[in-house]
Amino acid sequence: MIIQDDKKRLFTLQTRNTTYQLKADQNGVLLHTYYGPKVQGGDLSRLIRFADRGFSPNPNEVGNDRTYSLDTLPQEYSGSGAGDFRLSSLELELPDGSYVADLRYVDAKLQSGKYTLEGLPAFFGSDEDADTLVITMEDAAAHVRVELLYGVFEAYDLITRAVRIVNCGDKPVRLRRAASLCLDFPSADLDFITFDGGHVKERSLHRAHLRHGVQSVGSIRGISSHQHNPFVMLCEPGADEEHGTCYGAALLYSGNFEASVERCQFEDARLTLGIHPYHFCWTLEAGQAFTTPEAALLCSPNGFGQMSRQFHRAIRAHLLRDVWQNRRKPVLVNSWEAFYFDYDHERLLRFAKESAALGVELFVLDDGWFGHRDDDSSSLGDWWVNEKKLPGGLGALTAEINQLGMEFGLWVEPEMVSEDSCLYREHPDWVLNPSDRPCTRGRYQLVLDYTREEVRDYIFQALQKLLDNANVSYLKWDMNRALTQVWSAALPAERQGEVYHRFVLGVYDLLERVRQANPNTLIEGCSGGGGRFDMGMLYYTPQIWCSDNTDAIDRLSIQYGTSFAYPPSTMGAHVSVVPNEQTGRSVPMETRATVAMSGTFGYELDLGALPEQEKDMVVQQIQAYKESYDLIQTGDYYRLSAPTPDGAPTAWLHVSTDRRTALLCVVAGQTHAGPPFRQVKLRGLDPTLQYRLTGDDTPWPGDVLMQAGYPLPMLEEYHCLRLWLKAE
Ligand code: GLA
Repeated sequence: MIIQDDKKRLFTLQTRNTTYQLKADQNGVLLHTYYGPKVQGGDLSRLIRFADRGFSPNPNEVGNDRTYSLDTLPQEYSGSGAGDFRLSSLELELPDGSYVADLRYVDAKLQSGKYTLEGLPAFFGSDEDADTLVITMEDAAAHVRVELLYGVFEAYDLITRAVRIVNCGDKPVRLRRAASLCLDFPSADLDFITFDGGHVKERSLHRAHLRHGVQSVGSIRGISSHQHNPFVMLCEPGADEEHGTCYGAALLYSGNFEASVERCQFEDARLTLGIHPYHFCWTLEAGQAFTTPEAALLCSPNGFGQMSRQFHRAIRAHLLRDVWQNRRKPVLVNSWEAFYFDYDHERLLRFAKESAALGVELFVLDDGWFGHRDDDSSSLGDWWVNEKKLPGGLGALTAEINQLGMEFGLWVEPEMVSEDSCLYREHPDWVLNPSDRPCTRGRYQLVLDYTREEVRDYIFQALQKLLDNANVSYLKWDMNRALTQVWSAALPAERQGEVYHRFVLGVYDLLERVRQANPNTLIEGCSGGGGRFDMGMLYYTPQIWCSDNTDAIDRLSIQYGTSFAYPPSTMGAHVSVVPNEQTGRSVPMETRATVAMSGTFGYELDLGALPEQEKDMVVQQIQAYKESYDLIQTGDYYRLSAPTPDGAPTAWLHVSTDRRTALLCVVAGQTHAGPPFRQVKLRGLDPTLQYRLTGDDTPWPGDVLMQAGYPLPMLEEYHCLRLWLKAE
């Protein structure tokens, strides 16, 4: 609900558990008065203090009132060059060469339903689900107007923000920085939590108390990246899964981003989140507008768990456009770790038959089926079937797979081109690279210039030809290198600062075209595993391959970190061979499946080569996955313990929304002789109900399981437990 008090120019955004308030003061400065656990409201600007602070200057409107400074007041969307020296949200390069952005309130509009953003991913909601507030600000001297957009999803405590910047003057203005979100906190006694890592080790949680100055994470790789995720948190120092106020902020964007927090001189703090200013310079001609990506904010008064579950629910209901939303997603087998590039039609068909016999429902043909690609050095861009490997083409193979009762899925990497390809030989200028500069290769490949419509058209047509001629119900959309030498032959020198962002817009444009032309095809995102695991991609690809690391023990940390913002239903997770190819570790088959089943389940190995006993296990696992599917995909997720290197077990729980059914998963870490007795305290159950646990005749009271905990059996190293709880 949005409460607008026109007289006071006061706006209160009330959600189920939180309150967010802003106010335009007597000078038109838009103040951020409060964000946190729900309060009654009223004018909370009384929380703000005024004092004469040295070296904090005073805006023109207040004359010589030395107690009023933009440098000390909590700003809703900070400007630059006008007396607020903390992190700026907006930086303009004006026609006269000045760099000032100084915004004042103009008006506000309420709308029912959720605003949309053209060409950009955004949470969606009808009149029943969401409300919109649009506040217009202006820098009169610069002739620039700024619309601050707010979407309020009351039931989920979700507040979305985006910003539209309009050049109302008659000369070009350059945007140097345009954050999607600025959030001021009255106290910097906060921890900053980020999700970091690298290829095959994505999204490990890191937590540190705010220190003075600016600390930030971001990406200048052209993709949101394996190294840092565009989702960060701030919380009270004592906050944990169940306690304390915490804030999560995500950017729905798949390119360069920056999340910065500043601990400021008066022990206040500011968070900004948006497109990374590195190599960003956007020219707004007279009358033109620029829209930032959307940011999503969620505050939980009761710890991380509640924040995550609210994000999960909101993402499932208002971000994912999942073609399989109302039917169970098929169990898949993927050819990559089974054969890599080494296959032909016969081998694939044998693989498919053996997989089908065990109950697999979707056969995914990964890399290596096109052009003359036998390794990763060629053919990207030549999206036609290698008939030597697959005589009769995809149509014939798909028909055979379908006859086995399986659906068919295909790997593509549409944003890339190999130097050894017909496409590159024909259009060497279609890559991002200044023509007179040597290129930098990544996995032998170059990046197509998706800022250009003709490039996107070409790729769309090539993909569509494939999809028109074969029954493809799933696409794995990969992206396997970062952007370098970012320069487009199609843009003049002064517009090269737009290429990074235009590239992302181009990717979104093509994804949307492919989605619309193939409404029944599910697209799984991928970027060398989880290099582009962000809410922007989820709008187009409702699931994303979580990591190229399929080691079940490493996956515990990766999926744990991912779960802070993203629901299990979005995490691609497969069982692969042991010893694992990344780590050399051997983990029991049951554990590999338990970990993978808490995502979108599948196999990534040659099922036909398994010993008979393991084949039987596959049959049982597929059955078990089907039984737990609804609970895992739509239930609430509770992290019970964090993966640690010290050998303590990692535990998590899926709980149905009516709290009558739950599934407890526990994986033992490294074991040592003489292990301690361990118990795990469950959460989210109904304390008054009695739960029957798998293999246990005597029911357990919900409150006992939550307060005293469930006594774990002695698990051997890397062994697991997967127990159902059903209320009597
Ligand atoms: C990336 C993906 C893998 C696989 C290979 C194919 O690394 O993450 O899953 O598809 O590409 O080349």
